[in-house]
Amino acid sequence: MSGDTPTIEPTGGGVGAHVSNIDLRTELSDDSVALLFQALGDYGVLFFADQNITPDQHLAFAGRFAPVVPNVFLDQVPGYPDISLVQKRKGQRYNIGGDWHTDHSYDKEPALGSILVARETPERGGDTLFTNMYTAYDTLSDGLKEVLGQLSSVHGTSHVYGVAGNRPRLVAQDEDMRGRKPEDYAIKETIHPVVIRHPISGRKVLYVDPGYTQKIDGWTDEESEPFLKMLFAHATRPELTYRFQWKPGSIAFWDNRCTCHYAVNDYEGGGRVMHRVTVEGVPLVA
Ligand code: OGA
Ligand code: MN
Repeated sequence: MSGDTPTIEPTGGGVGAHVSNIDLRTELSDDSVALLFQALGDYGVLFFADQNITPDQHLAFAGRFAPVVPNVFLDQVPGYPDISLVQKRKGQRYNIGGDWHTDHSYDKEPALGSILVARETPERGGDTLFTNMYTAYDTLSDGLKEVLGQLSSVHGTSHVYGVAGNRPRLVAQDEDMRGRKPEDYAIKETIHPVVIRHPISGRKVLYVDPGYTQKIDGWTDEESEPFLKMLFAHATRPELTYRFQWKPGSIAFWDNRCTCHYAVNDYEGGGRVMHRVTVEGVPLVA
């Protein structure tokens, strides 16, 4: 068991902190886990360097925070059904997560966080941007905060993985799309408050994301679209963000409730392999 206390240092950007003096191959003390959990809630994303952990150690680390939730939309690491394979294949154009989004906001109880381990990284490029949804909320006017406090929004996957989505995905892991009906596609949908209380920090968060928030509940698309666009633009201003450069063995552990992220698609496919483990969250309250 590692007895040392991890060191936590804010990035200097809009979100996140670097964690050092820690070896994730060893079993962490309860105090260290509690410290990391609190830091996750405070900083939104924790970055670790030079952690050459095995897939089993990855799962064990994740399990210290919450039970692991499998992702039905992503491929799996062979032999590890609970580890998603996040990669861009050779010749592939799109990458996974190449727009601002947060993971699993379409679930009734959205995942607490995701732990992404870099296995192979391209020589150049393939960074990930993160943004701070606490600051996004805090920097709105009191007038708009009051309006947002009354609203809920619809989060869903139909525009991505549904029959007319940009990356249709069948429920069965079968690439033959012919003759399939809409109900065969992997569609999830749920409603969340637009402003939530963060389950760890207790702070208010703007909980909408450009990836999966489809509309303000009870509004027309015409009313909803420009309004959400304005909120998304506000939430992704450079001042709120931090850009992380990966090396093999780098890890980012982000909280899905108070951050959004964006995988920059500026490299050839084939050279970037990441493993992701996602852990269970709790119901969100306004
Ligand atoms: C993800 C994701 C970002 C990246 O795994 O959820 O969005 O940089 N990945 O690979
Ligand atoms: Mn993601």
